[in-house]
Amino acid sequence: MTTATYQENFSDEATKDRNQSSSYYINQDNYEFCGYNLKIARNTSANLGVSAYVWDAGIALCRYFEKENINFTGKKLIELGSGTGIVGILAALLGGNVTLTDQPNILQQIEYNISANIPSACRHRLNVRPLTWGEDHTNFPNDYDFILGSDLVYSSVYYSSLIRTLHYLANPDTAIYLSSAFRKGNGSLSFHEVLLPEYFDCLVVDRLADKDITVYKMTRLGRGPEDWLPA
Ligand SMILES: C[S@@+](CC[C@H](N)C(=O)[O-])C[C@H]1O[C@@H](n2cnc3c(N)ncnc32)[C@H](O)[C@@H]1O
Repeated sequence: MTTATYQENFSDEATKDRNQSSSYYINQDNYEFCGYNLKIARNTSANLGVSAYVWDAGIALCRYFEKENINFTGKKLIELGSGTGIVGILAALLGGNVTLTDQPNILQQIEYNISANIPSACRHRLNVRPLTWGEDHTNFPNDYDFILGSDLVYSSVYYSSLIRTLHYLANPDTAIYLSSAFRKGNGSLSFHEVLLPEYFDCLVVDRLADKDITVYKMTRLGRGPEDWLPA
């Protein structure tokens, strides 16, 4: 298995996507989870910023699914900040009906990876839609069985909008899996230890001490929209 993470060096091989314009280049790496070999491409020519990497927190969440032998068959899921789509694609391979979301300019990269990894017979179980936190969540229902997110907690500018979106999309029966890397100086620890527990019941289900990554399983506390954080 090759991992190409921003935190590690880039050992991947540049390939040109012949289906796109000549200025569209991708780097592709292979990941193995739950017996599936995922080919994940990153568009490094379109200024996708942090979205053009596979983050360790995403890998940690996929490993957690593997470790727990999770089966999403028949379940309805939404992923926030999908980036390359690695987590949502694995969730679909594990049987889920998955909506992968991110900011509008990231969606083409996600679509590319879906087409490279999902057999056409299962394609109808995946959906790719724009969702900017704090802005678009009202376009979505709140009947999800699971909400997934990895490495979403890295800039305090977005913390309140992320909480509002999570709170809106979740009902009290929704399980939220959030995998976060703690970095100094961005308030990520207090986001998890102070802000989130006001609105969600938060349980640590996995921890990778060497990378300071924690996987949480959360459920929404029974508060209403009147308790949402201001924009
Ligand atoms: C660090 S990347 C993580 C990508 C992927 N989940 C992973 O683990 O590899 C953060 C992702 O969150 C998305 N994101 C950041 N701010 C956002 C916002 N305000 N609304 C929606 N998505 C956002 C970015 O576009 C990016 O894809």
